[in-house]
Amino acid sequence: MIETIQWTESGVVMIDQTRLPREEIYVTCSDHLQVADAIRSMVIRGAPAIGVAAAMGIALGMQNAVSAADFDQICETLRRTRPTAVNLFWAIERMRRVFAEAAGRSLPEIREKLISEAIQIRFEDIAINECIGKNGAALIPDRKTVLTHCNAGALATAGYGTALGVIRAAVAAGKHIDVFADETRPFLQGARLTVWELQHDHIPATLITDNMAGHFLHSGRIGCVLVGADRIAANGDVANKIGTYSLAVLAKENNVPFYVAAPISTLDLSLASGDQIPIEQRAAAEVTHVQGVPVAPEGTAVLNPAFDVTPNRYVSAIITERGVARAPYLESLRKQLT
Ligand code: MRU
Repeated sequence: MIETIQWTESGVVMIDQTRLPREEIYVTCSDHLQVADAIRSMVIRGAPAIGVAAAMGIALGMQNAVSAADFDQICETLRRTRPTAVNLFWAIERMRRVFAEAAGRSLPEIREKLISEAIQIRFEDIAINECIGKNGAALIPDRKTVLTHCNAGALATAGYGTALGVIRAAVAAGKHIDVFADETRPFLQGARLTVWELQHDHIPATLITDNMAGHFLHSGRIGCVLVGADRIAANGDVANKIGTYSLAVLAKENNVPFYVAAPISTLDLSLASGDQIPIEQRAAAEVTHVQGVPVAPEGTAVLNPAFDVTPNRYVSAIITERGVARAPYLESLRKQLT
């Protein structure tokens, strides 16, 4: 299995996702500021993986803290890394609860409790993804191609993946499928990470550029579109990597089902609709440069929203570890939480 993130004696070890696929390098973060930097610079990325990293970052921060009073500042530093994936805030809240329950205990005891919670979050995430896989595998049409966007795989989680977890489970169940991976401009998670990950597991993968999706959705070859999510509002609107919305519209136009695979920790039922989801704006250089090489004139005006929101009417089903939710999502998602 690909190890995305691990708690070790020497610190939090992550595979550097900015260097893949050319180099398989692991970085070790020895304080929470390094973890925050790793999240911001996308050494580690993907909603569930960001959550695990934040939890481990807090545990690491408290290892180095001189007093329990440092806890809030450490949480705040991690909160300010990326705004869209709700798993980040979910994980910080979980660590906060453990900290609150440990009130009055000695600093070494608090540290121990935070470390075991962070390790537990990582461990649970893998098990949750395996459940998502089992719940979603039946939806994947046999002898067809699955189109995916960005990377919602082992690299985006503690292991196994959400959307790619469903693909792994479908393959394990004997389905004959292959995958089309959108390259996912501007950060190229599809080209660099999804293809690398699928090759690792010997699942046939074909790379296409984002603007080829309509052509292939019209061709009849694509059995379904399957993506992950960064935040899902109460009405089933889904925030995911920029370009997901266009894919969903094209899927509906061509009568191809559009599925979202995500853990319960990606649900944000406090938001009535996707309009309230904060969308991260990233640096212009990600658009004007490809792997450090400029592809646009100097001084070019750029917009770089990292995510978009797919309205619920385009979403055929949302697969979680608790089952498969369908419209009306206001009811079906609430039911998953009870
Ligand atoms: O900017 P990224 O690479 O963190 O964006 C990742 C995505 O959009 C994923 O699809 C999402 O986080 C789900 S990962 C299981």
